[in-house]
Amino acid sequence: MIEMKHISKTYTRKGVETEALHQVNLKVNEGDIYGVIGYSGAGKSTLIRMINFLEKPTSGQVFINGIDLGSYSTSQLRDARKNIGMIFQHFNLLNSKTIFQNVAIPLVLSKVNKTQIKDRVLELLDFVGLADKAESYPNELSGGQKQRIGIARALASNPSVLLCDEATSALDPQTTDSILNLLKKINEEYNITILIITHEMSIIQKVCNRVAVMENGEIIEEGNVLDVFGSPQQTSTKKFVQTVIHDEIPASVKNKIKDVPNSRLFKVPFDQNDTNPIVNDLIRTFNITVNIVFASINEIKDDTIGYLVLQLIGEKDLLEKAAGYLSHPEIGAKELAK
Ligand SMILES: Nc1ncnc2c1ncn2[C@@H]1O[C@H](COP(=O)(O)OP(=O)(O)OP(=O)(O)O)[C@@H](O)[C@H]1O
Ligand SMILES: [Mg+2]
Repeated sequence: MIEMKHISKTYTRKGVETEALHQVNLKVNEGDIYGVIGYSGAGKSTLIRMINFLEKPTSGQVFINGIDLGSYSTSQLRDARKNIGMIFQHFNLLNSKTIFQNVAIPLVLSKVNKTQIKDRVLELLDFVGLADKAESYPNELSGGQKQRIGIARALASNPSVLLCDEATSALDPQTTDSILNLLKKINEEYNITILIITHEMSIIQKVCNRVAVMENGEIIEEGNVLDVFGSPQQTSTKKFVQTVIHDEIPASVKNKIKDVPNSRLFKVPFDQNDTNPIVNDLIRTFNITVNIVFASINEIKDDTIGYLVLQLIGEKDLLEKAAGYLSHPEIGAKELAK
C-alpha cells in the first residue's frame, strides 16, 4: 500500500544542512492503522510530507499501491493526492466558509457537479455526527467538532489512505478518545488505511496495529503493537512504552520486600490465553511460599498485556528449582533485582 525505500531528506537553510530523514524504510499495509511515534524534531512531519509528495525526498522512493510517486508527472501527482486524505493538529478549516463549504472544497476543486457535492457533503457530515452544523462557521464549533469536520473534508474525495499529523494533540483526553473511535470506524467501515503521527504512546495503544519509533530522522524500531509494547528493544521505545504500561514495582512496595530473607523476585508475563496454574505449581511442586507483590494489566487495542511480580520465599535449592521452572519459554518469567 505505502512503501518508503531508503528515503533521506536534507534541508538546507542559510548554508546549514539538516538531515531530517536518514535512510527510512517503512511499509504500511492495506487496512493498517499504523502509528509513527517520536519526540519533537524526530522527522515525523517530514515523513508524512514525503508520502503525499508535498516535498520530494533528497533520495529514495515512495510507492503507493506499487507505483513510484517519483515517476509521476505533476498532473498525475495531483490525481494521486486525491487518494490521500490528511488531517492536521490545528484542523486547517477556512473560517470565512461554512462547514458545508469547507467539506465541499476538495469536490469543488475536482469539478464535481452541485447535486453530487450536496449529497456527498451531507452524507459525510452525517457520518461524523455533525449533520446539524452544515450552515455553521468553524469558530462556532469546539475543537473536537472542528476535527470531525477536518475528517469529513479529508474523506470527501474517497481516499484509500488517511494521514493524521498530531490530529488529537490540541484536544482534551475525552475528545481525543471520540476522535480515535471515529478513526477506527473509518478504518473498519470504509476500509481506509490510516497513518497516525503522534508523540503520545496512549494514541498508539488505543488504535494502532503497527508502530514505528522515530529518532533523529531514523526508524529505530518497528513492529506489531503488541510485540513492541510487550518487549521494547531500544531505550527510547522503552521510555515511550513506560508512559502507558506501568511494569515497575512502586518504590513503596520495593522498600517493604527488599529485606525479606531467602527470597527472590520474578516478573511473570500474564497471558490471558495461557491456563498454566503457575502460582499453584510453584507452591505445590517446590514447596515454597509465593507472595504476589505487584500486578498490572494494560489494554492494547483489542488485547491485553499484563505482568505479575512474585516474591518466592524458601530454601535456596528449592528457589533455584522454582527459578528453572519460571524461566521455561512457555512461562517466560524474568528475575528482578531486589
Ligand atoms: N522546511 C524545513 N527547513 C529546514 N529544516 C526543516 C524543515 N522542516 C523540518 N526541518 C527540520 O527537520 C527536522 C525534523 O522536523 P519535523 O518537523 O519532521 O519533526 P517532527 O518529528 O514532526 O517534530 P514535531 O513533533 O515537533 O512536530 C527538524 O530538525 C526540523 O528543524
Ligand atoms: Mg511534526
